[in-house]
Amino acid sequence: MIERGGFRPGERLPSTRTLARAKEASAATIVEAYESLVERGLVQVRPRSGYFVAPSRKPGKATAAPKTKIDRAPAIAAIEEPVAVSELVFQVLAQIRQRQVVPLGSAFPGPSLFPLPRLAQDLARAARRMDPWRTVEDLSPGSLELRRQVAKRYGLHGLAVSPDEIVITSGAMEALNLCLAAATRPGDVIALESPAFYASMQAADRLGLRVVQVRTDPVDGIDLDALEQAIRRNGVKACWLMPTLQNPLGASMPVERRRALAKLLARHDVALVEDDVYAELRFEDPLPPVKAFDTKGLVMHCGSFSKSLAPGYRVGWCVPGRLRQAVERAKLSTSIATSVPAQEGIAEFLRQGGYERHLRRLRRTFSDNQRRFRAAITAHFPAGTRVASPEGGYFLWVELPGRREAMKLYARAVKEGISVAPGPMFSASGGYANAMRINCGHPWDERTARAIARLGRLAN
Ligand SMILES: Cc1ncc(COP(=O)(O)O)c(C=O)c1O
Repeated sequence: MIERGGFRPGERLPSTRTLARAKEASAATIVEAYESLVERGLVQVRPRSGYFVAPSRKPGKATAAPKTKIDRAPAIAAIEEPVAVSELVFQVLAQIRQRQVVPLGSAFPGPSLFPLPRLAQDLARAARRMDPWRTVEDLSPGSLELRRQVAKRYGLHGLAVSPDEIVITSGAMEALNLCLAAATRPGDVIALESPAFYASMQAADRLGLRVVQVRTDPVDGIDLDALEQAIRRNGVKACWLMPTLQNPLGASMPVERRRALAKLLARHDVALVEDDVYAELRFEDPLPPVKAFDTKGLVMHCGSFSKSLAPGYRVGWCVPGRLRQAVERAKLSTSIATSVPAQEGIAEFLRQGGYERHLRRLRRTFSDNQRRFRAAITAHFPAGTRVASPEGGYFLWVELPGRREAMKLYARAVKEGISVAPGPMFSASGGYANAMRINCGHPWDERTARAIARLGRLAN
């Protein structure tokens, strides 16, 4: 159609989703087809917008592939309006739901690593003993016993939080969304890290917020000078950050920088939605959250049992500081409560003990896995590949050398039953074209070893 003038220079081509439906092909096949047109110089990619007919084309004649952005983000990116990473996120989510796919692109840890049989017993015991009135009494802010247990864990980590400061939610995802909504109004600017967890961009999109992404270092976390500039320049209302084991980089901010971040936010009266879902997965002692340095109630700390104890139970929480009542009421008016038996079951598990033992085992598994994955990536990926070395958790941020493109690798890998999370999933502006996040939180086995070796060959 391009050669016959059906699609004219500069015109937008159908979205990969539309074409996949029309052609009854997978989205990955369509991406690959488009990419082959890109290689022939007929088509151009515009990050976050789609595929367009190249302005001046020479039919049939191969031209060099267009230059792609290389990994280093600017300190502060331009403000982005509705952010469109969702298509890719939903594709990856669809892939990793199939057991036959190697889930290197998944955000979930291996479900077999969790004490699900014991949780089931505790859930059954708690449900049997449950006073029927609990179903009413445990409406938002949630089960008092569970809030006591969560408060106790804050105490163990040296932070005084009382049960009535806590709101139980359906996973951290609900906590994060409720907190962000409470701290902003449509049209506000929020600051996110670069790269950032894609759900923060999707949330901004849903709430009609504008986003400024601030460079984040794989070791030190967000660039505080750049953040302050972004706040001054753009009137940032709130930030959504992950100071501990940042997704996707794995970065953990040193304690002094956490203190400085809290001060900076207090100086400008900016709210912080602190996503701390991986707090318990640090291999060494846990780090104090930024919440520990919050003197004005600006930090809204969000946690979860999904990654550390009970995947699938959908139980998380937040400590929303001065917006506690707004968050509690928003929870009541949107979902009323988190499943009461699930809350009581987790509270029972925590009361009975054994959480620390389970966490020690889980951290050891992730630490061993990290070593194996890093060794395999180093052995099989192109020379010059950089692999992060996080202090915990189960994500590895991998940067390919030169102009190798993660989206192409992604499309080829999917065809071979291997899922990866390509870099552009974590950017509001299509950045990180040569990077990807690899999940090392599933048991290491022969199939995984083969998949890493295969990915390495595809990347070479
Ligand atoms: C960084 C981050 N925050 C929040 C969540 C969501 O947590 P939950 O499953 O408790 O809703 C995830 C899950 O992938 C995550 O990676």
